[in-house]
Amino acid sequence: MDIFKRLKQEHQQFREILGRLLKTTSRTADRREEMISQLYSEMGPHLLAEEEVLYPVFLDKKSEHENGVTYEEEHRLAKQLLQELSDMPKDDDNWKPRLRVLNTLFEYHAGMEEKQIFKRAKEIAGPDKVKQLSQRYEEAYEEAKQSQMAPMSM
Ligand SMILES: [Fe+2]
Ligand SMILES: [Fe+2]
Repeated sequence: MDIFKRLKQEHQQFREILGRLLKTTSRTADRREEMISQLYSEMGPHLLAEEEVLYPVFLDKKSEHENGVTYEEEHRLAKQLLQELSDMPKDDDNWKPRLRVLNTLFEYHAGMEEKQIFKRAKEIAGPDKVKQLSQRYEEAYEEAKQSQMAPMSM
């Protein structure tokens, strides 16, 4: 599948899980456990595979390098929040506020990807390379998913 189509589909899944998580309260904290572990095991590989396959398109180009570093910084924060939300007691008073921060960061970051970053990556890479990127993304995602690495150690 085309990498950009796939990334957008994954974003939609994350939006859906985040939306359901945002509806939970400390009284329904037991429902958070399963949903956050799903988000963790799917968003983690998404972030890692983008870093491995997509962001070098920017990092390797001098005029785009700083943009690439900015995307990585956003990922670093998202991984940290994802890790903390997984580790924290799910009825902690800070759990929902922290989830809101992750949601805001994700909405901003994924919105930028969909509105600008993917388009720009397509322009820089060209059609032949996009095919390659699509293949490599699938491999990188699977590898990350298999290794079940904690997002923070990615
Ligand atoms: Fe990203
Ligand atoms: Fe993404």
